[in-house]
Amino acid sequence: MSDNVMGYSDLLMDHFSSPRNILKVKEEEYGADGVGSVGNPTCGDMMKVWIKVDKDSERIKDLKWKTFGCASAIASTSIMSEMVTEEAGMTMEQALALKPKDIMARLGGLPAIKIHCSVLGDKALRAAIHDYFEKTGQKERILEQEAKVVCKCLNVTDHEIEEWVLEGARDFETLQEKCKISTGCGNCRPDAERIFQGYLNKYFTDAERNN
Ligand code: FES
Repeated sequence: MSDNVMGYSDLLMDHFSSPRNILKVKEEEYGADGVGSVGNPTCGDMMKVWIKVDKDSERIKDLKWKTFGCASAIASTSIMSEMVTEEAGMTMEQALALKPKDIMARLGGLPAIKIHCSVLGDKALRAAIHDYFEKTGQKERILEQEAKVVCKCLNVTDHEIEEWVLEGARDFETLQEKCKISTGCGNCRPDAERIFQGYLNKYFTDAERNN
């Protein structure tokens, strides 16, 4: 839980003021095995992640990152860089299974309005792993997640639902105000509600969902 009036835990403030594993040399000098970047045009945050992989064990032995993000993006990526590389380092599968919820739990919580910033590091890490798969001729391991149209009448995709959840939609009515999903024929409503609930579960604990 958050410790101070800003809603930030002491650990989050520590990672914000002394971020770990920032790339301090030129990209070419670092010589990454995989690179991933992601930007969120809504809040203007950008994130880039570089990974080095132990070829025998396929564990991530080092991770560096850089961002033009807010305190939450900085702290969450800093702690993610520790989680991914601690002990012998995560395998590709473990790193791909890492969820924003796990990172937030380790940080001691995050104000709900900041959740969308905290997923930047996670998305950039995923992109870096996919880049590693591509560079090492393992394209079949890339699980591309194409956007799927959920509501044909209003042309709303599952990716848009995810974005609105991260932007603060906590109930279906708010989601409808934002993107008008299921306001046409209504046939998509059961699917839309199931997908919406799935994203709420992915990013928030029960207590956070009710805030
Ligand atoms: S398909 Fe979504 S309202 Fe018709």
